[in-house]
Amino acid sequence: SNVRKPMVAGNWKMNGSLALLHTFISELKASPLLDTVLCLPYPYLAAASKASFKVGAQDCSQFGAGAHTGDIAVGMLQELGATYVIVGHSERRQDHNESNIAVALKVQTVLNAGLTPILCVGEPLKVREAGNVNKFVFEQLQAVIDVCSKDFLEKCIIAYEPIWAIGTGKTASPEQAQEVHQFIRTEIVKWNHNAVSTRLLYGGSVNASNAHALFAKPDIDGGLIGGASLKIDDFIAICNAVK
Ligand code: G3P
Repeated sequence: SNVRKPMVAGNWKMNGSLALLHTFISELKASPLLDTVLCLPYPYLAAASKASFKVGAQDCSQFGAGAHTGDIAVGMLQELGATYVIVGHSERRQDHNESNIAVALKVQTVLNAGLTPILCVGEPLKVREAGNVNKFVFEQLQAVIDVCSKDFLEKCIIAYEPIWAIGTGKTASPEQAQEVHQFIRTEIVKWNHNAVSTRLLYGGSVNASNAHALFAKPDIDGGLIGGASLKIDDFIAICNAVK
């Protein structure tokens, strides 16, 4: 849609190396891309932002600072040049038992610091099979609104990542993805009419061959890319597939 500038974000997850990062830095300098964000493991953020990439973290603490061993405060991410933070990725929800409430508190913390949260939502296969996708996603969004107020909807990016499509090679079809994106759009605009310009990214087995058809859908404003964001040629092709 022309009210929204499309974007592609790579999520390296716990993958990569400094050597790979340096390859990316030199290759991406040679082929400047649209609106591209690299969400990297914490230790790589400083080097990437020094190379003038837009960078994001993959999580942060819900707390500002203090006695929380092993956690990373959003202010520290900011010092490293991060301007985005992925919040509520399904791998965090699963591996670290992050509840909807914990996710909401993190979104609030990120917003208070002036960074942009990339809020992830999306259903497991069982929920889809039971026909409850919209209800499930609605509850994930509602939990954040309860904590952050409706303002947040115009200050965030929302990524729809159906869990069954993540890292499985089973991409949601463009129609399946558009259906949920349209539902999310309708709901967030009801809450806050400025959310008409909020970007909704699709994530889940996006690759160089399926990206174009996904990004062509009216409510899909780009992608959050896992595995394919680690392969420079694929990532560039996906970035160039945005409308
Ligand atoms: O955050 C991106 C993600 O979960 C999708 O991963 O590997 O299926 O592209 P992948």
